[in-house]
Amino acid sequence: MGGFSAEWLSVREPVDHASCNNMVKRAMLDYLKAKHGKTLSNLSVVDLGCGTGSNLRGLAPFLGRQQNWTLVDYDPLLLSAAREALLDWADEVIIDDDQRFEIKRTEYTIKVQFLQADLMKSYDEVLNLRPDLITAAAFFDLVSIDWINRFAQALKSPLYTVLTYNGTEKWLPPHVADQAVLAAFVAHQQTDKGFGSAAGPHAAQALTDALQTRSYNVSQGLSNWALSQSEHHTLMRLLAKGIAQAVVETGQVEQVDVNEWLAARSLAKGCEIGHVDIFAAPTVPDTLAESLSPKQASTS
Ligand SMILES: C[S@@+](CC[C@H](N)C(=O)[O-])C[C@H]1O[C@@H](n2cnc3c(N)ncnc32)[C@H](O)[C@@H]1O
Repeated sequence: MGGFSAEWLSVREPVDHASCNNMVKRAMLDYLKAKHGKTLSNLSVVDLGCGTGSNLRGLAPFLGRQQNWTLVDYDPLLLSAAREALLDWADEVIIDDDQRFEIKRTEYTIKVQFLQADLMKSYDEVLNLRPDLITAAAFFDLVSIDWINRFAQALKSPLYTVLTYNGTEKWLPPHVADQAVLAAFVAHQQTDKGFGSAAGPHAAQALTDALQTRSYNVSQGLSNWALSQSEHHTLMRLLAKGIAQAVVETGQVEQVDVNEWLAARSLAKGCEIGHVDIFAAPTVPDTLAESLSPKQASTS
C-alpha cells in the first residue's frame, strides 16, 4: 500500500478546498438542513481516509456550531499528524487528552474522535456509528469496484465524497508525451492500493451506479484542480514528480521520455486535473430501510 506524505496532503489542502463543487455541497447542506434543522447543530460526521484532517477543516465552516467528528485512517502517523494540524488550526483547545479532543475555531466547537481502522478489513464499526453524514476526500479512487459495491450495500447514512480523480488531465503548453504519460498514469491508478485493483477513474461512476441501485438520490459535479505555475508552483512540481514516478513503475513509457516530460512539466504554465464530487442521500426512510433487505429496499 502506498503511503501518503503529510507534506503532499498539506500542499494540496487549499486547492482541494477551493475546488469542491458548490452545487454538490449545496445539495448536501440542503438535505441536512431539511432533515436536522437549519442550524445543523450537533451533527455527527465520519471522515473516511482522513489523512491529516483536511476534509474537516474544509467542511466545518459550513456545518453547525457544535460538531462531532470521527476521523478514520489506517495510518497512525497520519492520525497523529491530523491531531497536530487540528491543534494548529484551532483558535482554542478545550480538551486534548487520551480520551477526548475538543477544539474551538471561530464560532465552531468541534469534538473529534480519532479511529485507526483498516477500511479494507472492515467498515462495519464506522457504518454502525450511524453518523448524520459520512464524508471522504480523495479516497474512493483508491478502493476497488467490488469494495464500492459492498460498501454501498451496507451504507446507512448520507454520503458526501469529494475530489475523486476522474482520469482527465490537461497540461499547458501540450507536450508530445502527454498522452502516453496519462495512459500509463491511469493504468497505475488502477493497480492495487490495498483494496484489490483500484477503481481509479471509474470510481465515481461505480459509486453512483451502486447507490442509485439502492434508490439513493445522487448529485454529482466536477471539482477539477485548475493550477497555474504562478500560484501553485509547489503543488505542480510535486504532482508532476508523483505522476512521473507512477509512470516509471508501469514500465509503459521509456525512462528518457518520462524524464523529458517531467522536466517540461515542472515548468508548465498550468494544468487542469479532473475530479468528481458526489452527494448521495437515501430516499427510503431509515425505519423502512431497516425492515427491508438491501435488495427489497432498492426496488421499492
Ligand atoms: C489521498 S489520501 C487523502 C487524505 C485526506 N482525505 C485528504 O483529502 O487530505 C488517502 C487517505 O486514505 C487513507 N487510506 C488508504 N487506505 C486505507 C485503508 N485501507 N483504511 C483506512 N484508510 C486508508 C490513507 O492513509 C490516506 O490518508
